[in-house]
Amino acid sequence: MSLSVSSSDAFSLRFVNRVFVTRELPEKVMAPLRHEHDVTTWDGDGPVPNDVLVSEASTAEGLLCMITDAIGLPLLDRASHLRVISQMAVGVDNIDIGECSRRGILVGHTPGVLTETVADSAFALLGAAARRLFEGEREVRSGKWGPWEPFHLTGGDLHDTTLGIVGMGRIGRAIARRATGYEMRVLYSSPARKDLDDADHVSLEVLLAESDHVVLSASLNDATRGLIGASELRLMRPTAYLVNVARGPLVNTVDLIEALLSGWIAGAALDVTDPEPLPRDHPLLSLPNCLVVPHLGSASVRTRNAMAALAVENLIAGLEGWSMPAAYSTAG
Ligand code: GLV
Repeated sequence: MSLSVSSSDAFSLRFVNRVFVTRELPEKVMAPLRHEHDVTTWDGDGPVPNDVLVSEASTAEGLLCMITDAIGLPLLDRASHLRVISQMAVGVDNIDIGECSRRGILVGHTPGVLTETVADSAFALLGAAARRLFEGEREVRSGKWGPWEPFHLTGGDLHDTTLGIVGMGRIGRAIARRATGYEMRVLYSSPARKDLDDADHVSLEVLLAESDHVVLSASLNDATRGLIGASELRLMRPTAYLVNVARGPLVNTVDLIEALLSGWIAGAALDVTDPEPLPRDHPLLSLPNCLVVPHLGSASVRTRNAMAALAVENLIAGLEGWSMPAAYSTAG
């Protein structure tokens, strides 16, 4: 931290903090941060390499980071000046939250602004999977589009079905609201029952057994890692589609491959995977009943700009000692 005296007004003193930003963000969004602080931005291709991140964090008071950045002990142990971490995402499973709170480092994230966009993505994926749109598209592009046939690529309906939502936070609720428009019955499982008119709280087992489709929208933590494995997938209906717009490690990938190969479920649509990104020769990518997209849940122009802007606001507020508009809280 350094003290800056404005040349136009000798009485205007302010502390200038050193901030490291791990991806280039639109200049319009960054301007307020640059105006107040000494900002360094990683401008290389792809995520910042870990050694660069650790070295930059070692002299920074503020960090604006992404889900691709590992914010754990190796970084925190060297980041003795770090006071505020602002993540441009709602999920913070790449950050050692316990260690940050032990060290008094504030953590901000970007809930709310992405809720509706991720819910839109969940429905886009569900529709694409249940109606087998991606299989049809592949067929068209590969020159295999033959004459119309009565039962070719028939899939499942969305309307008048039962949708199971695992995790009923903001995004789960937005998915449930959309489901009512499709006249779906909605079941949800989450650690706490919510006061909802349009969805029924059930155990995970009941949800899996009774749902025509299942959408995962729970955050990743010790309790949810590997939540969906072989026994859970076996509970699902052979006609059911599984959509994951949360985090890849909620699902055991090996078990999912078996479920898709053996017909325990009809198909899956994954915005997130484990590992991520998937190598090109990964078995999931060879399965015709599995749609994989590269973590695009919140990827609308408007929403990504809103996330970047909120991440900047959080960082400025935290550095100034004001309350952040969106501080991360384990209470959700
Ligand atoms: C994206 O995955 C997010 O957590 O916002």
